[in-house]
Amino acid sequence: MSVRIGIIGCGKITERASLPNLVNYKGKAEVKALCDIDDGRAKLMASQFRLNGVDISKDWKSVVKRKDIDAIFVNTPNYLHEEVACGGAAAKKHILVEKPITISNSAAANMIKAAKKNSVLLMVEQTQRFDPVHQAAKKFIDTEKLGKINMVKGRIGHAGPEYWAGGNEGWFSDKKLSGGGALIDVGIHILDLLRWLSGKEVAEVCANIKTVEKPFPVEDNGSILMRFTDGALGHFEASWTTRPYEVMTWLYGENGKIHTSIGSEKPVIASMATVGKGKDPNSLLEDVYPEIGPGSGWGSAVHYFIDCVVKREKPFIDGEEGAKSMSVILAAYESSEKGCWVKVKY
Ligand SMILES: NC(=O)c1ccc[n+]([C@@H]2O[C@H](COP(=O)([O-])OP(=O)(O)OC[C@H]3O[C@@H](n4cnc5c(N)ncnc54)[C@H](O)[C@@H]3O)[C@@H](O)[C@H]2O)c1
Repeated sequence: MSVRIGIIGCGKITERASLPNLVNYKGKAEVKALCDIDDGRAKLMASQFRLNGVDISKDWKSVVKRKDIDAIFVNTPNYLHEEVACGGAAAKKHILVEKPITISNSAAANMIKAAKKNSVLLMVEQTQRFDPVHQAAKKFIDTEKLGKINMVKGRIGHAGPEYWAGGNEGWFSDKKLSGGGALIDVGIHILDLLRWLSGKEVAEVCANIKTVEKPFPVEDNGSILMRFTDGALGHFEASWTTRPYEVMTWLYGENGKIHTSIGSEKPVIASMATVGKGKDPNSLLEDVYPEIGPGSGWGSAVHYFIDCVVKREKPFIDGEEGAKSMSVILAAYESSEKGCWVKVKY
């Protein structure tokens, strides 16, 4: 079966992630409609990816009504995710929505409810989980060789949305449209990754966020302390002033630690300590380099969603999971405003 797709929002993520990985999934996925309020973008994407005969439109409501579409990709600015996803669900289309799932707890609840009511799949594209480096780390962590994990930290940073969006940061720096700055844009990637790698849930956060460099009304950097429900501690940083791009995690357990760093020569290292009676756990037993599989985060996420639709299988990063990560980010904004620790409202 070939899954028939309508893409709503034909900007950068459609050009760089969705379309390349749909057209290369031959026989499994077929792009039927491209929609953007700027139909020039939709037409450009159709010609760039040689999608002859694809439907071009400006109105997402006409796309979700189409009988020849099984699923939609919601690739619009963040504030529109709820409206488009709920409309898609009502029209019985499966949904792959870009991160962050949306920008409020009530909007996320509406999306989850709409998907359930209409028996359609809702997946949130938290692509860091799919990066082969992070998949390798997760596989190692799941062996439980590290013992109980008691401390985690992560950092994600790039040069800012203006470098992604071709010189104009656009809606990314308008809080009403985006939900915030670096924290909700990239912080949600690293926070979601830490939640998934550790298997822990964040109970409360204390945030330190600021616009330190850019002429934007939203924060360009954030540093967030976390307390997990199991008593472990954590910390993550999100930045729009980091050059070059980086994504890093560290997880510390009773028997050793694991470090990931995208783009480095050895992107996953698990360092095991000499533990046990009479041993000195400060000394290294061995460094382990978990095997990293092929592919890319963006590609694997798109292909995984298509496979879930074919099998009617609930994605492991579903609406509830996406909403949990967003709730932590919203609590961090509240903490920054109030200047105190804030409990995450799930
Ligand atoms: N997973 C990732 O790694 C990743 C990376 C970048 C962006 N994103 C997410 O992807 C989404 C889109 O980001 P982008 O970088 O492509 O932004 P973009 O500004 O490049 O593209 C958004 C597109 O949506 C269109 N649009 C706006 N309103 C619309 C409407 N009512 N109907 C149809 N189209 C509409 C715009 O005209 C624009 O072409 C965001 O949620 C963003 O957070 C995810």
